[in-house]
Amino acid sequence: MDTFETIRTRRSVRRFVNKPVEDEKLAVILEAVRQAPSWANRQCWSFVVVKNAATREKLSELSYVETFFGPMGYKTNPAKKGIAEAPVVVVACADPSQSGVIWKQFYYMTDLGIAAQNLMLASRALGLGTVFVGVFNEEGIRDLLNIPPNIRVVGIFPIGYPFEEKTEGPPRKQLNEIVFYERWE
Ligand SMILES: Cc1cc2nc3c(=O)[nH]c(=O)nc-3n(C[C@H](O)[C@H](O)[C@H](O)COP(=O)(O)O)c2cc1C
Repeated sequence: MDTFETIRTRRSVRRFVNKPVEDEKLAVILEAVRQAPSWANRQCWSFVVVKNAATREKLSELSYVETFFGPMGYKTNPAKKGIAEAPVVVVACADPSQSGVIWKQFYYMTDLGIAAQNLMLASRALGLGTVFVGVFNEEGIRDLLNIPPNIRVVGIFPIGYPFEEKTEGPPRKQLNEIVFYERWE
């Protein structure tokens, strides 16, 4: 699969079949993450790889935040089931002190966003699915995984073989809605 096809056909995958992810594939995904660009090449990230089923179940529980989802009328995080189902869950963390802040731009979020995209595209290229889960009980996850208080948890990524092949996603804005040429209009 070439790069553009991988980008075009990647979808958020929230349900997985009961099949392990090969360690060789996981290694390729983590290597793709390691190669991501970062602010001043500081590589402010760390990743906790969780395979233990009981821990995945707890991570799944921690992906629902009542104060966020409740007012939206959501009874759950749409990715909640998948976090328990996927054989591997990667928890992506950042040490903000290792990245830059200039004019209120917090580059650790950018760094982790790029690493996350490498993780998602590498997964897709290997026939695996994943989803960026960005809403969760951060304090609960810190306690569960022994993550120090100065480290931010940025995303949870359940990785596994997709329950169904899905290449159509929610619609995107048209280019003429998001691109200006020469100056903002
Ligand atoms: C920063 C970020 C946070 C997200 N958080 C969640 C989440 O908590 N739960 C979830 O089910 N999907 C989450 N998503 C996935 C988006 O809903 C999804 O990418 C978007 O609807 C587009 O669909 P697609 O990925 O299939 O193209 C998140 C995506 C991003 C980039």
